[in-house]
Amino acid sequence: MSLLKKIESIQKEFKAELSSATKDSSKISDLYNKYLSRKGIVSDLFSQLSNVDPKDKPIVGQKINALRNDFEASFDKLGTAKLSNKNISNLDFSLPGNHFFEGSIHPITRVINDISDIFKSIGFSVTSGNEIEDDFYNFEALNIPKHHPARDMQDTYYLNNEKLLRTHTSASQIHFMEENEPPIKIISPGRVYRNEDISVRSYCLFHQIEGLYVDKKVSFSDLKGVMEFFSKKYFGENVKVRFRPSYFPFTEPSAEMDIYWGLESESDYRITKGTGWLEILGCGMVDPEVFKSVKYDSSLKGYAFGIGIERIAMLKYGITDIRLLYEGDIRFLRQF
Ligand code: PHE
Repeated sequence: MSLLKKIESIQKEFKAELSSATKDSSKISDLYNKYLSRKGIVSDLFSQLSNVDPKDKPIVGQKINALRNDFEASFDKLGTAKLSNKNISNLDFSLPGNHFFEGSIHPITRVINDISDIFKSIGFSVTSGNEIEDDFYNFEALNIPKHHPARDMQDTYYLNNEKLLRTHTSASQIHFMEENEPPIKIISPGRVYRNEDISVRSYCLFHQIEGLYVDKKVSFSDLKGVMEFFSKKYFGENVKVRFRPSYFPFTEPSAEMDIYWGLESESDYRITKGTGWLEILGCGMVDPEVFKSVKYDSSLKGYAFGIGIERIAMLKYGITDIRLLYEGDIRFLRQF
């Protein structure tokens, strides 16, 4: 049989097989392989081309090409050509599909966003600071001169003689006051670094939200009222809060605020050092020395606060080890 005849009969045979395969989709990929795979009928036809009389070769070659195009078009129409190498009959379309987990917002970011929303609702605007700071912004301008014992409160990572990783977001107060005139009502969230022993309650980096309110008439009871408002908004009306007198060189008077965590389990003891209370922020009235260092009028009044984000996240979500917040363990993160 001449090759041309053969081509014709293959074409007929294909048409018949195709129409029966359309009724039974499990046969389609077999059919594709039979005709169009590397060892299939069409490629066999091409290999026989070498035996054809040279003068007939162009015609016969064209026919085989047309045949192949025709077959491919038929499979394309069925939308199955791409499945050629997979055995379609082994696919179980009733199986559930792969589930792709969506990312979620990290608890730290979530706490920052939620707290920012609360302060925005009472007129604070959000600014940001720098993680790399000069000694001036992190200490000096905040009334912590060199050799001041308060420097030991925050064990610092120095990058070189001038630059350091900020130990608190209070540094951003100074930047903001240098660049803006009072009245000021801002919060400034961000990351801070301290060379501390790593434990269930402290880590070498953490996050704070700094707050600063400067105006002509600002009192300590304004500060207390705003801190209580924030705690109730965030933790609910029944939250238990207490203020303790404290010391910061840049505020006078100063206080720390604790939130009641509970004291039932062993981890409650560890996290609250046996008190049941967790300290979440430091605050106070801006010390006049700080106004002096940014060349503000000494008659101004203001309050400042620094909220510890990780502590809040632990309280809010019942996280009993701060390190979980940094490990990127997907089993932990998926719960948020
Ligand atoms: N910067 C202090 C700290 O890191 C917190 C603080 C901020 C205290 C503002 C008073 C006023 O502990």
